[in-house]
Amino acid sequence: MARSALVTGGSRGIGLAIARELAAGGDDVAVTYRSGEPPEGLLGVHCDITDTAQVDAAFTRVEEEQGPVEVLVANAGITKDQLMLLMSEDDFTSVLDTNLTGTFRVVKRAVRGMLRRRRGGRIVLISSVVGLMGSGGQVNYAASKAGLVGFGRSLARELGSRGITVNIVAPGFIETDMTAALPEERAAEIKKNVPLGRFGSTGEIAAAVRFLTGENAGYITGAVIPVDGGLGMGH
Ligand code: NAI
Repeated sequence: MARSALVTGGSRGIGLAIARELAAGGDDVAVTYRSGEPPEGLLGVHCDITDTAQVDAAFTRVEEEQGPVEVLVANAGITKDQLMLLMSEDDFTSVLDTNLTGTFRVVKRAVRGMLRRRRGGRIVLISSVVGLMGSGGQVNYAASKAGLVGFGRSLARELGSRGITVNIVAPGFIETDMTAALPEERAAEIKKNVPLGRFGSTGEIAAAVRFLTGENAGYITGAVIPVDGGLGMGH
């Protein structure tokens, strides 16, 4: 039976690949988007995850259209890179507010529905290799992504007895608009440090997420799954 799935920030990049992969597996998939048109074939719900009322309204819409969310992928995230001494407090707090507190808002709303349904659920948080390794110029982003690991593992402990799994995917460098903007030299330098010698594809992240939301991952919770070509191994 089709499950009701929601992917935040699912209108482009990694989130869209995840949404398409879940839909290909037979799920009814909704994506949150902020501007423009939502992608074809998916239920687009307008939502800024920094606003609790918008999060609530988006979930209500998804519940009406495709039922309570059984599979949540918290993917929406931003960067505002700067060396720490030059970083404004607003650049720090706004990244935390989107990536970490935004995830809290979305997950809290989803869990309420999952507990009411009493049929378990699947939650996947999209972190980053940077949250585990650190990255100069990204103290805000790395703190938010490391925060997701503590958040997810704590929640896995809270919700395990209810049959809800919570896992974290930590992508490395993935071919997206973000990495396409890197100067060629910098991209080559990064690839030298990746054991597999290349950037990953959005499809490779989506495949890991689909596995974690699937039946075969029923005994996996609180795990941090790196999909990074080996870049961050050892954490
Ligand atoms: P992207 O910038 O293409 O997509 C991010 C999505 O999040 C967009 O749809 C955007 O609208 C949404 N979003 C941002 N702020 C939002 C807000 N306040 N409310 C609702 N939606 C919001 O980024 P990409 O590359 O697809 O990244 C997706 C996730 O994967 C992010 O969490 C990112 O940190 C993470 N990631 C990406 C890597 C990469 O190499 N591209 C590497 C590691 C992690």
